[in-house]
Amino acid sequence: MCPDPLTPYGNRPMVTPIVNAVNYEYDSFEVLRQITDGEIDGYTYHRDDNPTVRKVEHQIAALEKAEDCVVCTSGMAACTMVFLTWLRAGDHLIIFHDTYGANYKVCLILERFGVKVTWLDANDADRISKYIQPDTRMVFLETPSNPLCKVLDIAHIAAALSKVKAMLVVDNTFATPYHQHPLELGADLVIHSATKALGGHNDLMAGAIACSKEHYDTLWFTRQAVGSTLDAYSAFLLDRGLKTFELRAATVADNAQKAAEFLISQPKVSHLSYPGLPQHDNHKIAAKQMKQGFGGLMAFDVGDSPEDAKKFIAELKVIYHAVSLGATESLICIPYLTTMLYLPPERRTLFGVRENTVRLSLGIEPVEKIIDDLKLALAKL
Ligand SMILES: Cc1ncc(COP(=O)(O)O)c(C=O)c1O
Repeated sequence: MCPDPLTPYGNRPMVTPIVNAVNYEYDSFEVLRQITDGEIDGYTYHRDDNPTVRKVEHQIAALEKAEDCVVCTSGMAACTMVFLTWLRAGDHLIIFHDTYGANYKVCLILERFGVKVTWLDANDADRISKYIQPDTRMVFLETPSNPLCKVLDIAHIAAALSKVKAMLVVDNTFATPYHQHPLELGADLVIHSATKALGGHNDLMAGAIACSKEHYDTLWFTRQAVGSTLDAYSAFLLDRGLKTFELRAATVADNAQKAAEFLISQPKVSHLSYPGLPQHDNHKIAAKQMKQGFGGLMAFDVGDSPEDAKKFIAELKVIYHAVSLGATESLICIPYLTTMLYLPPERRTLFGVRENTVRLSLGIEPVEKIIDDLKLALAKL
């Protein structure tokens, strides 16, 4: 266990120090002996651990009500570390289609190593027991999901898994710990692209896995081996982003609810998916497992064609046309042309995404500005 990163400085600095050291001068040979025993009792090398990184790990663990947390270089690094740590040849992985596109590529790699992968649609979630096999070792899901904001019942899936020795992994990037605590609902691990709402300012990439102390030790082994430790400067930015996380998450959810309530009645908008609307297919599940609102993401179709969606986006003045999400600025993109590029074209539209579907990530701008922007752009169609 590493010491509190702040104690070496005596009085605590108000701002987390950026410890950029790659290596640390050993106090004595006694410390080395402890390392050989597998009991690392201090910092030695950045790939092993870093005090600035450790500080944000403690903070994210607290937010997720977890015993501990492993932070790494990106959300995809976090997903990959989880797969590498717990899956081996012959194991069966169940993963939902509506997860972030790059997972598709990672699963192609896993298949090369002999992992059997079953892709399910959110509509299959109720019947998940049908797909669980004796060698199922992991179920991986996002809720609300990317990009269609489908909602899955975490507690129901956790209960279905209780008969097999399989882990439930939930990517909580869309919901954020402000709204949802998957560990309390039966998940074993919670993944974040901390690049998104936890960081919140479009200026860092990071991933996080919130988990038990035991799983922390196992993941730490993988991170140290593969070298996906976050750099100290990004950890500092993440620490700073976390200071306003709750404030931002509350504002973003409020903005999203109001924007969704405006958009649902617009003639040029269809298939609007926002878990906070009673019209959402799984609003009741969302209301049961989320709190303090429903997050800042929604998806909807614009007009009748890809050209309509492009024209609408081109007319926006406040909302930025950009990928990513969970930032202080509102962002919009066409998933078919952006986040889903990782998938072959025929696969992108299999489960509800259309070429004119847009994904909107609300920021913290005054909501009237956002709604006016949407209104004026829709009027141009
Ligand atoms: C839900 C979700 N999970 C994981 C990722 C991957 O995160 P990163 O871009 O930090 O690797 C993303 C990226 O957009 C995402 O939206």
